[in-house]
Amino acid sequence: MKLVRTKDELRTLRRSWIFKGEKVAVVPTMGALHAGHLSLVEAAKKGADRVIVTIFVNPKQFNNPDDLDKYPRTEEDDAAKLAPYDIDALYVPTPDQIYPDGFATNVSVSGLTEDLEGAHRPGHFDGVATVVSKLFLQSRADVAYFGQKDYQQMLIVTRLSKDLDIETEVVGCPTVREEDGLAMSSRNVRLSPEERAIAPAMKREMDRAAEAIRRGAEIRVVLDSAKQQIENAGYGAVEYLELRDAETLAPVTDLSRPTRLLAAAMLGDVRLIDNIAV
Ligand code: PAF
Repeated sequence: MKLVRTKDELRTLRRSWIFKGEKVAVVPTMGALHAGHLSLVEAAKKGADRVIVTIFVNPKQFNNPDDLDKYPRTEEDDAAKLAPYDIDALYVPTPDQIYPDGFATNVSVSGLTEDLEGAHRPGHFDGVATVVSKLFLQSRADVAYFGQKDYQQMLIVTRLSKDLDIETEVVGCPTVREEDGLAMSSRNVRLSPEERAIAPAMKREMDRAAEAIRRGAEIRVVLDSAKQQIENAGYGAVEYLELRDAETLAPVTDLSRPTRLLAAAMLGDVRLIDNIAV
């Protein structure tokens, strides 16, 4: 595994691989790697000849400065976790490699970004779209692996890659969960033992709600009751719990097309999100 810090080094490596006709995958991350990220690395190893993992804690996508300060930075541990996967490059760019002096371009995807996470985290998806565009173009990967845990993000990066004719195909991979159903997230380490015990309530109530909706219960009533249950379990006010079209994220009133149930809520001072297919 080669540790790469500059885009020029990355380009040189990439060129040597293209020359041999090898397929290149990228797994963009912000570090603090857990089993969810490692499942993306595994998928990348199966799907391509060469695998680049990137670690960059992207300041532009943090709407809350406190969240940026508290975001875990664990490069050495991350490198150790990646070692058994025998990836080709770990790209950990210095900030100037992503945002050089005078950087003035913003990638903004309309529609998909405006609601749900977008409504609660102003500017977040512009930051994601901008950095992901740069990582796609710097790596010139043929394929990129993203977790469905960040479902809205996965749809947005798929859209931007198509819209900007970037030749990186986006592949979404299933959310990896703890045994009690909690979705793996780099933020979970910030939960106190009491909060960690409460945390699975969100997914549990989402599963119940999905089942009731499938059985024909009235969607609004089911969602209101599930929100209440999540709050009763010890979460703060639920920011959203919504049934949406799985492709466009438009609100839905029935199950005539594939749908996704998406939720976000604070648990103590940790913001957790999750989503499941209905
Ligand atoms: O999902 C993440 O970790 C980040 O949003 C990403 C895609 C690496 C962009 O910074």
